[in-house]
Amino acid sequence: MFLRASADVRLLVTTLAMTPVRLSFVCLGNICRSPMAQGVFENLVAASGRSGDFQIESAGVGSWHVGQAPDRRALATAKAHGLTLTSRAQQIQRRDFARLDMVIALDSEVADELRRLAPTPTDRAKVRLLREFDPIRSGRTGDLDVPDPYYGDTAGFEDAYQMIERACRGLLETIQPPT
Ligand code: 4NP
Repeated sequence: MFLRASADVRLLVTTLAMTPVRLSFVCLGNICRSPMAQGVFENLVAASGRSGDFQIESAGVGSWHVGQAPDRRALATAKAHGLTLTSRAQQIQRRDFARLDMVIALDSEVADELRRLAPTPTDRAKVRLLREFDPIRSGRTGDLDVPDPYYGDTAGFEDAYQMIERACRGLLETIQPPT
């Protein structure tokens, strides 16, 4: 696979030669944002006939919700967009980095925690922010977070979903098979 560099996305490598590309979306609890990202990206990948190119999972940096289904507001938001979320929350482990090609954080706090957790410099370089791939970077300059909707209202989930969908489209576009 090739990561296609674009003007504002300075990508860590020009090639991801392995197929499938193994990626995990990571947020705090793995019950709101990262399950939506997993569901959205799985759906986009399937719709583009590229299911064989990816292994997709999600996780949280925290352990509070391990084993749980996504938050009902995340389920409802995804359902309103025609998606059924099937993930069960898991906590990312140091050993997970070895088998992943990209570890995609939903916000910068999570990215910092993932970089602390990464066992090697190579593993640290696998950590990306999802919204690096969002063509519309609304919000404060330099803010690439998908805000945590957990303590907010349902509108926050829809906002998060919109950011996640845009960024996932950008991510899929960026990771291209070799031509
Ligand atoms: P997520 O949202 O990181 O998008 O899954 C959260 C879920 C749970 C908590 C925080 C954020 N919590 O503090 O339990």
